[in-house]
Amino acid sequence: MGTTEGFNSRLFLKGLIQDALDGQKTGGLTWHATAWLAQKRWINTKDSIEKFLLKSPTRAHRKLILVGGSAGWMMSSKWLSQFEHIELIDIDPLAPFLFRIRHQDVFKGGSVRFHFDRRDGILELPQLLKQHPEGLVWFDNVLGQQCYRFKDEEWVERQLKFIKTLLKDRSWGSVHDLLSGPVLVDNPLSDERLKDRLSKVISWSASLEHPSETTDAQTPKQSAAKDLDMDDFDLPHLIDLNGQSMDFQKASQALLSWVDACGIWQDHLSAEVFPLGIKTELIAWPFKSKYCHWLQAGFCNL
Ligand SMILES: C[S@@+](CC[C@H](N)C(=O)[O-])C[C@H]1O[C@@H](n2cnc3c(N)ncnc32)[C@H](O)[C@@H]1O
Repeated sequence: MGTTEGFNSRLFLKGLIQDALDGQKTGGLTWHATAWLAQKRWINTKDSIEKFLLKSPTRAHRKLILVGGSAGWMMSSKWLSQFEHIELIDIDPLAPFLFRIRHQDVFKGGSVRFHFDRRDGILELPQLLKQHPEGLVWFDNVLGQQCYRFKDEEWVERQLKFIKTLLKDRSWGSVHDLLSGPVLVDNPLSDERLKDRLSKVISWSASLEHPSETTDAQTPKQSAAKDLDMDDFDLPHLIDLNGQSMDFQKASQALLSWVDACGIWQDHLSAEVFPLGIKTELIAWPFKSKYCHWLQAGFCNL
C-alpha cells in the first residue's frame, strides 16, 4: 500500500471517505441526512424549482450535465425525464446510488441513460466541457456552496464570475444560494404575514446602468439584516427586482425584509454568476427553523 507512481492510494481513500461524509462541507452524508429530514419543510421550494425548470425551454437538449446533483433531493424527476442521457458530476461518491433510488421513475423504462463522474465540476469545468462538447449544463445548488469549501473569498468570487465566460457558447443554468441567514419566524413560507409575497414569482436581473446616487453600491459580504454596510459593496450595477429598479443594497434589503430577517446574513459570493441582463428568479428556501436562504435560478443561451 502507499505511494505508487503518480497515485497515492491512501490519500485517494481519505478524500473519498471525507467527500462521502460531508462533501467538503457542501454535501455528503451530512447533506443527505439534513435533506431527508427536511423533505416536508422544503416541499414548496422544491415545487418552485420544478416550476422554474419545466417552464424553461430546455426540451431541445438530449443530454444533461448535472453538476452537484448529489441525490437530487430538490431536483424534479419530471424535468429529468425529458433527457436521454444524464451525466451526474459530484465529488460525493454516494451520489450515484442515492440519485438512482430517488429518481427511479426516470430510469424505469430504460430510455434515460445515466453516468456518474466523481470530479470537481467547477475547477475542472474546461475539461468537462471538452469531454462533453454538447449537452445542457445545470449547476444544481452547488455554486453558492463554494464559499464553504475555500477560505479565500476573492478567489471563490473570481472562479464563480468566470464560469459564464467558459460557458459563453453553451446552454447552461444554475440554481444557487445568494444569501442566507437567521429569520424571526419558524418558516417564512408558511407564515401568514409573509407567505403571500413569497409564493409569487420574484424576478431579479442586473444591468450595467449605474444609479447616479449609488455608484459605489457593492455586494454584502456579511451584513446585518437591517443595516447593510455600504463599505462592503462591490457591485456598481442596477438591479431590477420585480420590475422596479434599485441599487444592490436596496434590493438585498428588500429580500431580507420579505423573510423577516434578523442578525448576520451570509453572502454566498454568487451575485455575479449570471451575465448582466439575464432574467432570473429568486426562491425562498426555509432551510431549517428560523434560518432561510434566498436561491437564484436562471438559464443562459437557451
Ligand atoms: C447543497 S448540495 C446540493 C445537492 C443537490 N442539488 C440536491 O438537490 O440534493 C451540493 C452538492 O454539490 C457537491 N459539490 C460541491 N462542490 C462541488 C464541485 N466543485 N464539483 C462537483 N460537485 C460539488 C456536493 O458534494 C453536494 O453533493
